[in-house]
Amino acid sequence: MNLTNKVIWITGASSGIGEALAKLLAKEQCKLVLSARRTEELERVKKETGLSDDNVLILPIDLEQYQLTVEWTQQVIAKFNRIDVLINNGGISQEGYAMETSAAVEQKIMNINYFGNVALSKAVAPIMQQQKSGKIAVVTSIIGKFGLANLSTYAASKHALYGFYDSFRMELKDDNVAVLIVSPGFVNTNVTLNAVTGDGSAYNKNSPAQENGMDTTVFAKKFVNAIKSNKNHKYIGSKELLTVPFKTFFPNTFYNLMHKMSKKKNG
Ligand SMILES: NC(=O)c1ccc[n+]([C@@H]2O[C@H](COP(=O)([O-])OP(=O)(O)OC[C@H]3O[C@@H](n4cnc5c(N)ncnc54)[C@H](OP(=O)(O)O)[C@@H]3O)[C@@H](O)[C@H]2O)c1
Repeated sequence: MNLTNKVIWITGASSGIGEALAKLLAKEQCKLVLSARRTEELERVKKETGLSDDNVLILPIDLEQYQLTVEWTQQVIAKFNRIDVLINNGGISQEGYAMETSAAVEQKIMNINYFGNVALSKAVAPIMQQQKSGKIAVVTSIIGKFGLANLSTYAASKHALYGFYDSFRMELKDDNVAVLIVSPGFVNTNVTLNAVTGDGSAYNKNSPAQENGMDTTVFAKKFVNAIKSNKNHKYIGSKELLTVPFKTFFPNTFYNLMHKMSKKKNG
């Protein structure tokens, strides 16, 4: 897929991976729709892309309000008249044992990471089907391939995305609409700092895994290359990606090791 002049809608564009993608895609001469909750951060990202008002739309959204996805999509069409790529990247992480996590927090994580994500794709897909072209890129995680202590609902939400999009891809293919699943390993963002705890308060601490993770600009380059390719799925990260084949081929050893590591981390 050639990205020049394409209309690309990025959720979670106010920081981290989404921000890095916005800056790189602006250099590729794309027209961008930047979405997240924090309007002032979206304005900062817009300014740092150097794009003119004609080529960028700030569209504040809260993925928890997913009954509004059709309305949001109409706003994008009113400005650009088409949508070539949706990057469904907005999401929230978790820090807390399942037994200490309220049902309200579990619902919130699922609403943002799964139901909001899926509702947005279902609002955008008919436009792409009509165009007979388009790509939905969805950000899951290697935590969508196995679970870890403290991350039960986050892992569930990311596992659910695989199931939905592996199915949805087949339903869109005949209209020339593609689905790319991107599974990051560790990326150096504030995702853990912004995580919610079991009672819904902010975790407010970063994790060494993220601090030592891949730089967002390096990550964004690999992500954009995957969008340009015909790939259905792409893992992006470093040696932590080996956890996925390790779990597949040696599941018992994997779970014993991860259990020991989580004991060490959580005391
Ligand atoms: N960093 C990693 O190591 C890693 C690994 C695997 C997967 N991921 C995934 O990568 C994606 C991006 O995360 P990141 O690492 O770049 O962390 P981040 O900097 O915390 O970015 C998360 C983005 O999601 C947006 N967001 C959160 N809640 C939202 C809501 N209710 N409605 C709309 N937007 C919302 C945030 O913007 P506002 O706060 O302004 O709404 C922010 O732009 C997430 O889906 C995450 O699960 C990250």
